[in-house]
Amino acid sequence: MSSDPGERPWWTAAVAYQVYPRSFCDTSGSGEGDLAGITAHLDHLSWLGVDAVWLSPFYPSPMRDGGYDVSDYCDVDPRYGDLAAFDHLLAESHRRGLKVIVDWVPNHTSDQHPWFQSSRRDPDGPHGDWYFWRDGTPDGPMPNNWVESLTFGPTWSWDDVRGQWYLHNFYPSQPDLNWSNPAVQDAMFDTLRFWLDRGVDGFRMDVINLIGKDPALPDVDPDYVGLPQVILNDRPETHELLRRIRTLLDSYPGDRLALGEVAMLDIGSILGHLGTPQAPELHLAFNFPPMRHPWAAGPWREGIAQTERDYGAAGAWPTWVLSNHDIARHRTRYGGDERIARAAAVLLLGLRGTPFVYAGEELGLLDAEVPEDRRDDLAGRDGCRAPIPWDPTPTHGWVRDDNWLPWPPETVTHNVTTMTGDAGSIAHLYREMIALRKAHPALKSGSLELLDTDPDVVAWRRVDGDDVVVVAVNFADSPRPAPTSAATLLSSVATIGSRGETASETELAPYEARVSEV
Ligand code: GLC
Repeated sequence: MSSDPGERPWWTAAVAYQVYPRSFCDTSGSGEGDLAGITAHLDHLSWLGVDAVWLSPFYPSPMRDGGYDVSDYCDVDPRYGDLAAFDHLLAESHRRGLKVIVDWVPNHTSDQHPWFQSSRRDPDGPHGDWYFWRDGTPDGPMPNNWVESLTFGPTWSWDDVRGQWYLHNFYPSQPDLNWSNPAVQDAMFDTLRFWLDRGVDGFRMDVINLIGKDPALPDVDPDYVGLPQVILNDRPETHELLRRIRTLLDSYPGDRLALGEVAMLDIGSILGHLGTPQAPELHLAFNFPPMRHPWAAGPWREGIAQTERDYGAAGAWPTWVLSNHDIARHRTRYGGDERIARAAAVLLLGLRGTPFVYAGEELGLLDAEVPEDRRDDLAGRDGCRAPIPWDPTPTHGWVRDDNWLPWPPETVTHNVTTMTGDAGSIAHLYREMIALRKAHPALKSGSLELLDTDPDVVAWRRVDGDDVVVVAVNFADSPRPAPTSAATLLSSVATIGSRGETASETELAPYEARVSEV
């Protein structure tokens, strides 16, 4: 947690926690979370021991894409509070030693953004060339064969006002900004400065690989028809922009993080967006491919091996994430068994790299069932965005019982108050794992070597000098042999049994994950 020259930047030792502001806690009675609700619960983050909080967008927005449709980059949506509430949240976070990462959505604005409104009305005006406009007729054909990333419809919509097609790699309400225009670059760099000047510690950069585009916007190759640009687009223009963004961040005192969402499919393309030591780009990028693995030892072993190999060769620092606001929660994806969610916590927090915990996963939350008439997101991502239950009462620490989305299941037991009061709960497991990472240099920053094990077990050794720790995860619902090198069980983090109980030295119980000191 230091920015002293020669020391590792804070994010390599950090556990980060993602807050989706609309779902965290409502203090106003609107039925939607707000910034004051986040500030009110910062002590929970301190209790868990996380080091940084990433806030999903809280900017003014018509909320067609949950706030990833921004209509003003330099303000707070009134539903969440105001800039004073943000400054208070930032100050209260810093007072607790928590870094604050804000979401930056540079690829597109909302169609309600004044820039787009000006662009559609006045092609020759100051914003005429700030978006991608193409001639044609409303009946088609479309300017190219791209599909957008959320519903896989066309990336082009016809605008009656300007009488042209405009490009949107997400919903039609999210027109893509034309980053080849220097005026767009300047305006967007200013939005970074706005938040840096307020004191934020970094940015999570939304779909950052999309900002540089081939100016010809060519059709995708026949082999890739139907795949969205967000997984395909890898352009020199983006790398050039990222180098400038990095220079801007590095010009500020302290370590300001550039964390990119590069939702590409292969690790090589993701790594490419970190640049080189001579020409650095992002500091960190989300490593999403493992998030797509099923709960099975084979894919995880291979995913860990590949990450180690590729990141090792590039001298880069990995990230790990199991859940976020775009995908069903991992307990739901893995079938719902809480023992698996517990083992997954040890997996996430035992690997080499910066882990990201999505608010509520420390409670072992499942996705909410969202009936048809209460759906908010067209792409069906509501289940993982359900309100966080803070206590067992009917309003669960919110003002109302009926909020913008229904509660997740099991709220009587799976809420913060009940779980923090139960030393055997999954919330305590997260806390203990995070504490263990801090106490063991091997877990925080040590090397990682996969061990030969039973096919249903993934185990690895972490080493930093004399500190040697073995993590073993049994992916099977039946006992499996424990790795022989696992010597002294750090029993408080065994996922089965309660603190102090000894599990078998030689055998992992069904879905047991454990951390041992060698
Ligand atoms: C990112 C966000 C997602 C959003 C999309 C468009 O993938 O995580 O929620 O819909 O970008 O901004």
